[in-house]
Amino acid sequence: MKNKNLVSITDFSKEEYLRILELAAEFEMKPRQDILRGYVISTLFFEPSTRTRLSFETAINGLGGRVIGFTDSGATSTAKGETLYDTIKMVSNYADLIVMRHPLEGSAKLASEISSVPIVNAGDGANQHPTQTLLDMYSIQKTQGTLDGLKIFMVGDLKYGRTVHSLLMAMSRFNTTFYFISPEELMLPAVYKLHLDKMGLEYHEGKDLAEFLPEADIIYMTRVQQERFTDPIEYERVKNAYVLRRNMLEGTRETMKVLHPLPRVNEIHTDVDDSPHAYYFQQARNGVFVRMAILSAILGVK
Ligand code: CP
Repeated sequence: MKNKNLVSITDFSKEEYLRILELAAEFEMKPRQDILRGYVISTLFFEPSTRTRLSFETAINGLGGRVIGFTDSGATSTAKGETLYDTIKMVSNYADLIVMRHPLEGSAKLASEISSVPIVNAGDGANQHPTQTLLDMYSIQKTQGTLDGLKIFMVGDLKYGRTVHSLLMAMSRFNTTFYFISPEELMLPAVYKLHLDKMGLEYHEGKDLAEFLPEADIIYMTRVQQERFTDPIEYERVKNAYVLRRNMLEGTRETMKVLHPLPRVNEIHTDVDDSPHAYYFQQARNGVFVRMAILSAILGVK
């Protein structure tokens, strides 16, 4: 993985996913190591973030590296009209690796074609969020003991949800059965269903969350993302389409876990938080170890 870009989750092979998960488990056991001393990593966030940026920065600090970057592109020369091309050209002079979040789909790919140092995509519009996927996979493996042959429910905004798109692509390599639950307006784009058809995988599509719930190994809830809608009336119509409540989890598998990339708005009621099925806050914690693994693999120190 040394010097590779991580723009799409398909940039890594199945073996590389498993290596990242193995490294993440090592970092969870020993989260303070000085292996990134002397490295500078840039975090460029053109779009808001809490978990992704802070867990990357926690990972870098824990491994002894240094961080440069910004969280508000309005306070950079982007506000004076500097292009993404020029920004990436410049920052790749200063850092050994760039972590970038940007609202435009394809922006991470563009950055990887410009940069002289590896690019890690921290989310590009509605397209992909590969580092989230690796931490989701780590959470699935940790709670289910395997990645193979699971039944995964994806619920909510399957149209614009970049975490859903990346996770689907990765888990399609592990004989997963998928259940896609969304309102009509936010159904999974056809390109992903074509991919599953090509892989010969079983999937179900519907609007009723309760119908198959007892079969689930993982319920992956997602937020309806206001920022992706051009029509506010459409957002209002679908924003509360699904609200998971604790009583809905009665009769589900004992080992079933509820995941969510977070932030949540209303889609998981707080009465789920102390249920043994809730795993979304631990999932976010796992992000630190998985991002340590990604950085150290790409920088070639592990
Ligand atoms: N899961 C995730 O990407 O969260 P943030 O937007 O807070 O980074």
